[in-house]
Amino acid sequence: MTKIRNPHFDDNRVVWSDEYSGQYMPISYDVQFDDQWRLFLERAVGFHDHTGVEISDDFIDDRIFELTGVRDYLATRKGVSRSEQNRDIGGRLYLEPKFPITYFEGKRCLDIGCGAGRWTKTLKSLGGQVKSTDVSRHGLESTRRVNDDVEALNLFDIIDKRPDLHGFADFTLCWGVLMCTHDPYRAFQNVAATVRPGGECYIMVYAPTYHASEFVLSTRRRFHQQARSNEEKLAFAYEISDVPENAINLLDMLNTFYNWVIPQEVAVGWFEKNGFEDVIVLNRNEPHNCGWHIKGRKKY
Ligand SMILES: C[S@@+](CC[C@H](N)C(=O)[O-])C[C@H]1O[C@@H](n2cnc3c(N)ncnc32)[C@H](O)[C@@H]1O
Repeated sequence: MTKIRNPHFDDNRVVWSDEYSGQYMPISYDVQFDDQWRLFLERAVGFHDHTGVEISDDFIDDRIFELTGVRDYLATRKGVSRSEQNRDIGGRLYLEPKFPITYFEGKRCLDIGCGAGRWTKTLKSLGGQVKSTDVSRHGLESTRRVNDDVEALNLFDIIDKRPDLHGFADFTLCWGVLMCTHDPYRAFQNVAATVRPGGECYIMVYAPTYHASEFVLSTRRRFHQQARSNEEKLAFAYEISDVPENAINLLDMLNTFYNWVIPQEVAVGWFEKNGFEDVIVLNRNEPHNCGWHIKGRKKY
């Protein structure tokens, strides 16, 4: 079996440049996040009640707050008081401008790389008609609990094999997916193809900050050299986690074969080169940002 070349460990390339497009190989994307979502479904320590995954109402109310600035939306509508214990767990997103609370109402939304379904539930709660896609069996199983329209789809197949999805969405969201692939630019082009003229696309990708740090790079190198079985990988994540409850964050950062960081101008350039305007870096004022939150509108 030929060894797949890893840009970070074999070529010392961590910061993505579009010149690298086409140089690296796809991997088994259906496997790489699947364990995280399985552990979430099993409610393993460190894999639930976490901002990065949880889909219970309290957590979704925080996601809604981050997108729209409106507090306790679901709790208020359901006439329940939300648990303060779960309020604002994890990092805050600094998104500016916020989406109006009615923005998603009746919009056809596509959640590409939906994971366990937290953004799908958020968009649905705000009135969006959401189609959710991913390649992870357990991610899809989790998302099916909150959405009927869930489909296994490798995002790299959209341009060549899924004409039905071209221009499909009023709003496409792809949160934390592109930079974990062999070709983030090609991945973006596939995602961008789903947006109808006048529709919007929102991506989150890692910035050249924390994920380009010596800590992340050296820990990832050790992880990929040492941890082979799923048990070893999990043990490694728990070992370096400050508290076991944070294990999902660590596994997320360690487990991916590709973990590119994307310069802001490169990610903004993706939108511009692919027919988008009004491109906004929503978290441009965030101190110590880990990623870029960028949205743009497809030109008519
Ligand atoms: C970091 S997780 C983010 C999940 C979700 N967007 C969220 O924010 O909670 C990345 C997700 O992208 C999915 N993914 C990775 N490569 C993919 C591909 N080529 N096609 C479709 N989904 C992919 C993974 O299975 C995983 O569920």
